[in-house]
Amino acid sequence: MELPNRVGILHDVLRFFWKFDVNIRRIESRPSKFGKFDFFVDVERTNGSDEDEKDERLENLLTSLEEYGVEKLLILGEKEVNWFPRHISELDMIANRTLDAGSDLEADHPGFYDQNYRKRRQELADFALNHTWNKPIAEIKYTEDEIHCWTSVWDQMEPLWEKFACTPYLRSLELMKEHCNYTRTTIPQQKDISIFLESTTNFHLRPVAGLLTSRDFLNGLAHRTFFCTQYIRHHSKPLYTPEPDVVHELLGHAPMFADTDFCDFSQEIGLASLGASDEDIDKLARCYWFTVEFGLCKEYDPVKGKDKMTAYGAGLLSSFGELEYACRENENSEKPMIVEWDPKRAALQEFPITTYQPLYFLADSLSDAKNKMRKYCEDLPRPFFAQYNYQTQTVFIDRQIKRLDIEPN
Ligand SMILES: [Fe+2]
Repeated sequence: MELPNRVGILHDVLRFFWKFDVNIRRIESRPSKFGKFDFFVDVERTNGSDEDEKDERLENLLTSLEEYGVEKLLILGEKEVNWFPRHISELDMIANRTLDAGSDLEADHPGFYDQNYRKRRQELADFALNHTWNKPIAEIKYTEDEIHCWTSVWDQMEPLWEKFACTPYLRSLELMKEHCNYTRTTIPQQKDISIFLESTTNFHLRPVAGLLTSRDFLNGLAHRTFFCTQYIRHHSKPLYTPEPDVVHELLGHAPMFADTDFCDFSQEIGLASLGASDEDIDKLARCYWFTVEFGLCKEYDPVKGKDKMTAYGAGLLSSFGELEYACRENENSEKPMIVEWDPKRAALQEFPITTYQPLYFLADSLSDAKNKMRKYCEDLPRPFFAQYNYQTQTVFIDRQIKRLDIEPN
């Protein structure tokens, strides 16, 4: 309801709720146009749960409010929305809904004919499948082959990070070396990284056995939680992986989650995904792809006295070939297309998943990426406005909703 800006007006209006014995569950005020205020009030039904049954006390209340002169009275019923996790514990309901996982490999996977590798994949998948939100993350004892694979990638990537990674990444990588046992000869433990991130940016890693749907994955980000694999690519091809693995997650993604702007950016996409339509989930997933996976941002280079392109997307920061391909400045070589970061355009942009990207989006800075994304999310036709409460680890919704049943996998 819209009320004029007058001292005591809310008191006057609330008297009608007492008079007709209608219980208020939540009340919130927001400034509206011309110095007035909108009040959002959730009330309990007074006549049981049958939708069609006339609710007399409520009807009388509404009539009295209208007669009193409440200027705009809008009655919102419960809105039905797609299921989404409201509390962080409900991530347990989606974490194991993987599209493929464990020893189930595609025929062109480098480990397809390696029975030991497949057995190991299943073992690590089982750790993830047995994880729940309130349990400590299982520590993995990585084998020599696995560590060797990690070292091969690290050694190839290190000189490229110095040249092409954005400053927040480089800064965070140093912190990870100091606090999370990041070295060229150790695969860090997801548990240590998650504890570190919780203490710096309130972000969490959570084990997952394989790929999730875009909806489930993005819903995790709303709870500042990143679903993160623990297995590693096949040692025969250390510079190639057809799927996210521990190298991609820990060298590409994890350091960026030590940056508050980047965490807020990721959570923004996550909150917009809650209860969203399938069409909007696709749009948000594309925005995620062109930023969190393949985003570039400008940075001033004091040596050259001008801006340069740096990478903040994990798909670049963990890929030996693509990082250089996206960021190098050699005019003679084949160059991808680089365009200004624009979530509206990214939301509709198709992309390949098995080759280098033909197109990248370049933001002025990480906060520019965040601000534009926030604006884009605000303009989406969202069923409600969602905020995250860090104390209770719960999503707060600004209207009454009814979650539809969770879809079977
Ligand atoms: Fe990724």
